[in-house]
Amino acid sequence: MTNIAILGFGVVGGGTAELITKNKDEVAALGGDTVNIKYILDLRDFPNSPLGDRVVHDFEQILSDPEIDTVIEVMGGSHPAYEYTAAALRAGKNVITSNKEVVATYGDELLEIAREAGVSYRFEAAVGGGIPVISPIIGFIRQNRITEVRGILNGTTNYILTKMFTLGESFEASLADAQSRGYAERNPDADILGLDAARKIAILAALVTDRLYPTDAIHTEGIVGIRAADVSAADKLGRQIKLLGRCIIPEGGSPFIMVAPFLLPSDAPLSTVSGVYNAVEVLGEPIGSAMFFGPGAGAAPTASAVVGDLMQIMRSGTRCATPSFTRGDAAIKASFEGFVSRHYLAFPEGARKDLLNAFVGATEIEAVGECAIVTEYLSESELNERLAALGVAPLSHIRLL
Ligand code: HSE
Repeated sequence: MTNIAILGFGVVGGGTAELITKNKDEVAALGGDTVNIKYILDLRDFPNSPLGDRVVHDFEQILSDPEIDTVIEVMGGSHPAYEYTAAALRAGKNVITSNKEVVATYGDELLEIAREAGVSYRFEAAVGGGIPVISPIIGFIRQNRITEVRGILNGTTNYILTKMFTLGESFEASLADAQSRGYAERNPDADILGLDAARKIAILAALVTDRLYPTDAIHTEGIVGIRAADVSAADKLGRQIKLLGRCIIPEGGSPFIMVAPFLLPSDAPLSTVSGVYNAVEVLGEPIGSAMFFGPGAGAAPTASAVVGDLMQIMRSGTRCATPSFTRGDAAIKASFEGFVSRHYLAFPEGARKDLLNAFVGATEIEAVGECAIVTEYLSESELNERLAALGVAPLSHIRLL
């Protein structure tokens, strides 16, 4: 019997306990042993839960119990999740988490602690919810020369953008709808400002660059500035707007890591991903493009990935493919200035003449009451120089994929 403890009996903790309990035969067959949820750590009591007798309030009880083989940290937030994780690893317990905040901030350090202690630290559920993406990348794809990892990494914003495109609704109305369905939190900032996606692309980038770059060194834009006029311009271009996390690895150069809305060709694989779904596309040689698609959030999908990690540990322990990365340099933020793309820009109608003079060779898009163009390929620094010389702030700026 394998004894485990679950830290946090919220949405993901509850889903994890339910999967282990309901699918106990499948879990035992795949893991090679029965799983016993010996403790559940939470501030609250759950007298009506069949697992209510497992609930404890003191982490020390779990830490000091030599029977606990694996700790599942699904508390959310950085603290005390980070401290509990480090302590459990040092005590020789494997740790599994869905906590992208902890992995994106302390993942390098926690992997090192796990390595020294001879145990596993696994976080498949931290990116893409139920989609297996971390294990396939490190176990089956890293032998390619990876040129890019990109994805739709946030279901809330993808739902909002899908509503804007399919129903022509405003950003505000689409956000309110996402909140009423429980897809967006009452304070949706981490999603709509791109921070959640930045944490996830930081983790994916670490898998393919061997460096965990600080989230605040990643160029991050959200979707709050996207207007109905941009959706209409995208339609005219035969494109979709998607919030992408991208890590591009030029040969011999620093990676470009970013989160921003992009205008994607409608036939691009990521354009087909709508609603709350997530997808991750890995590009490399010789594989070409491989895309992983599925539910990026929610109790059941996240629990599936958490228990998937548990199965890996039970079957293979530290012998299974494990990520390994060290801290990346925050100076990477400056390298974004060299990132080259085409840019969609919309300006007030009055700026039309100056705009077309500043961006010779740009293609004008028909727009009502404003002037919109798609530029030729320009680096961020070239674009910013021209915008500064123009002296008028754009109404919108979205890069093309
Ligand atoms: N708010 C996140 C999302 C939850 O919408 O994708 C999963 O990380």
